[in-house]
Amino acid sequence: MEPRKITEGVFWVGAVDWDRRLFDSLIPLPDGTSYNAYLIKGSSKTALLDTVDPTKTDVLMSALRGVERIDYVVVHHAEQDHSGSLPVVLQKYPEAKAVCNPKCKEFLMDLLHIPEDRIVTVADGETLDLGGKTLEFIFTPWVHWPETVSTFLREEGILFSCDLFGSHLSFPGLYIDDEQRVCDAAKRYYAEVMMPFRAMIKKHLEKLSTYPVKIIAPSHGPLYKDPSCIIGSHLDWVSDRVSNTVIMPYSTMHGSTEMMVDHLAGRLYEKGVKVERFNLAYADTGRITMALVDAAAVVFGSPTVLGGAHPHVISAAFLINALRPKIRYSAIIGSYGWAGKMAEQVTANIGGLKAESLGTVLVKGRPRQDDFKKLDELADAIAAKHKDNGII
Ligand SMILES: Cc1cc2nc3c(=O)[nH]c(=O)nc-3n(C[C@H](O)[C@H](O)[C@H](O)COP(=O)(O)O)c2cc1C
Ligand SMILES: [Fe+2]
Ligand SMILES: [Fe+2]
Repeated sequence: MEPRKITEGVFWVGAVDWDRRLFDSLIPLPDGTSYNAYLIKGSSKTALLDTVDPTKTDVLMSALRGVERIDYVVVHHAEQDHSGSLPVVLQKYPEAKAVCNPKCKEFLMDLLHIPEDRIVTVADGETLDLGGKTLEFIFTPWVHWPETVSTFLREEGILFSCDLFGSHLSFPGLYIDDEQRVCDAAKRYYAEVMMPFRAMIKKHLEKLSTYPVKIIAPSHGPLYKDPSCIIGSHLDWVSDRVSNTVIMPYSTMHGSTEMMVDHLAGRLYEKGVKVERFNLAYADTGRITMALVDAAAVVFGSPTVLGGAHPHVISAAFLINALRPKIRYSAIIGSYGWAGKMAEQVTANIGGLKAESLGTVLVKGRPRQDDFKKLDELADAIAAKHKDNGII
């Protein structure tokens, strides 16, 4: 891959992973992703900001083939999708030092066995002068790990924000005009890696708003020439606002639980509540996490299987609980044959959600008229809660 010029002396030297289809062995990537690394040439020093996933080291090294000397490799984040090629870069450039914060140093030594004498640490707010190009390090912990740092290139107004504002989107240039497309992809990334740390992200957004940012250059996906749209989206995602939406992750083996889901979804729709239903046998986990960013309620649907909830529902409940979404209300519905602890198991897995339970509807076998009535009542209760609390 050829370096792509951003401004005078500043280049994108990353790798596009068009065919990557799964991140963290969990989240599908319909549009692939990119690992963005940046080269900044000052009049006296040259810095590389991040590297790429170890599977793409050869792409990075080919972009760097004309670069004779690198003085610093700024490591914003020790996760291997950005630090994975660091050992090879440090080997090729024996004079280069990895520049990172103390927490990141520890990770680099543990995860990549980088020798201590190749690392220099910096403090929050410290600057590094490359000769006419000043890097200011801004600590942004929990974007997405505790060590994560952003860099502001003062002279150019470029914010290298690492995972913050990143999107899983393969792209052939530096920028993409379709803002909505990038924001959707960024929502998928935010939902998985940053949503649990929403309160921290909110503080970082406040701090970063004091910088005169002209370009945002994240570590995944396209850069932003106009930062207002992506910052506006993040401000909304981290706010307390929830939308009038219920998400319904469910499993069904013979269709009874699905009949319940269909009925409840229909009634909610009639009441003006949006529904995002996910049959967990086929659902894209990324779409579920995206829906969680602003949904107000969740209704789990599960048959009883081997005495408890369907394993797909337990897995979804566990993930939803861990992602700490803004969900305010929850309910559980499902069909059973004889006996079991389905609802108890789901409940035990969502203890971390600060959600008010609006009830459980369990049906023996295929739902009958009386059961549909109970589902109507549940829909009415959800719609009333949303309305009474100004959720529109
Ligand atoms: C593999 C399997 C295991 C089951 N285990 C239980 C069980 O432990 N307790 C129970 O009450 N019903 C059990 N059932 C019965 C289902 O809960 C019942 O058929 C229910 O109506 C299925 O809902 P569905 O049509 O949404 O799949 C089991 C069914 C299957 C296929
Ligand atoms: Fe990360
Ligand atoms: Fe990343």
